[in-house]
Amino acid sequence: MKKILITGASGFIGSFIVEEALRQGMQVYAGMRNSSSKQYLTDDNIEFVMLNFADKASLQKQLSTYKFDYIVHAAGLTKAQKKEDFDTVNFRYTQNLVDALIEENCVPERFIFISSMAAHGPGDDDNTIAVKLSDAPHPDTLYGISKLKAEYYINALTHFPVITLRPTGVYGPREKDYFVFFKTISNGIEPYIGLQEQYLSFIYVKDLVDVVFKAIHSDITGKTYFVADGKSYTAREFAQITKRILHKKTIKLFVPLAIVKLIAILLETVNGWFGKVPTLNRDKYNVLKARNWLCDISGLEKDFGFKANYLLEDGVKEAIAWYKAEKWL
Ligand SMILES: NC(=O)c1ccc[n+]([C@@H]2O[C@H](COP(=O)([O-])OP(=O)(O)OC[C@H]3O[C@@H](n4cnc5c(N)ncnc54)[C@H](OP(=O)(O)O)[C@@H]3O)[C@@H](O)[C@H]2O)c1
Repeated sequence: MKKILITGASGFIGSFIVEEALRQGMQVYAGMRNSSSKQYLTDDNIEFVMLNFADKASLQKQLSTYKFDYIVHAAGLTKAQKKEDFDTVNFRYTQNLVDALIEENCVPERFIFISSMAAHGPGDDDNTIAVKLSDAPHPDTLYGISKLKAEYYINALTHFPVITLRPTGVYGPREKDYFVFFKTISNGIEPYIGLQEQYLSFIYVKDLVDVVFKAIHSDITGKTYFVADGKSYTAREFAQITKRILHKKTIKLFVPLAIVKLIAILLETVNGWFGKVPTLNRDKYNVLKARNWLCDISGLEKDFGFKANYLLEDGVKEAIAWYKAEKWL
């Protein structure tokens, strides 16, 4: 039985990766912290491994004991209270994990690094050309910079069988950020950030998981892929789809970027007093202000024969059904 370690197992994406690994009959190890929630990790076959990425010596000990066949590194910080936390968690902890594997001579058959499209940064605001892997990355968020640093580190290693995935916006059941948008529409408000049209790409969480396992089972290593459903959507289409599924009539609310920035600063400051990080913050503002979040997935299609099972309408329908069943909506 193949042993798979999934870091960030308690999170939105990690919990779905755990489910698929169990379905595939793997011995599943959920990488956790003492404080991590087990809400979505209820299967008795899951073995929990408390990992402290800050402590390389303890990591080394654990990794050499278990000797995992596959590792999916999905632990990561998407919003942070202190700027340096992005670098610490997304770059340094990834570096510690990888170094510990190499130093203990227990490099897995496949290491899947869940990076982000943010590591590349958005496309040109003035056109709708999807970014390609051959384009020079120019991350415009601290989050993206930290992910790119981790990518550079791992990809510079020799004999390290990594596949780097750069998902665009991931949505689906259990997710909390797009949920804010669904909730706003359900409250009758259709929010638009900035006055110029925004082009977006999406990937439904189950399709991302499909890519993760295609990557695990492939012979390919050392390559990076953007992960999206392959379609281009406008912010208006996203709102139309959501409204249709929720059967809602809405009032459109266009918020100029300058106001959004002000709100982000305000929310970040006030939440900071209580040790919290709001969904809308300065780093997130940089994501929201970009007009072109389209990415080229031809590599994924060519190497893995990937075709999304869920386009936006199908995925949003399933996600909203879940939010309703769980009484979030
Ligand atoms: N959601 C998206 O749209 C999206 C898009 C592109 C890439 N990604 C990447 O996908 C990965 C998973 O994201 P997600 O959306 O599932 O986020 P999430 O729900 O916030 O999950 C993040 C996971 O990382 C763990 N983590 C955070 N800080 C940690 C630390 N200091 N030490 C150990 N573990 C830590 C969390 O553990 P706790 O439960 O203990 O906090 C949690 O399990 C991340 O690497 C993210 O950058 C996400």
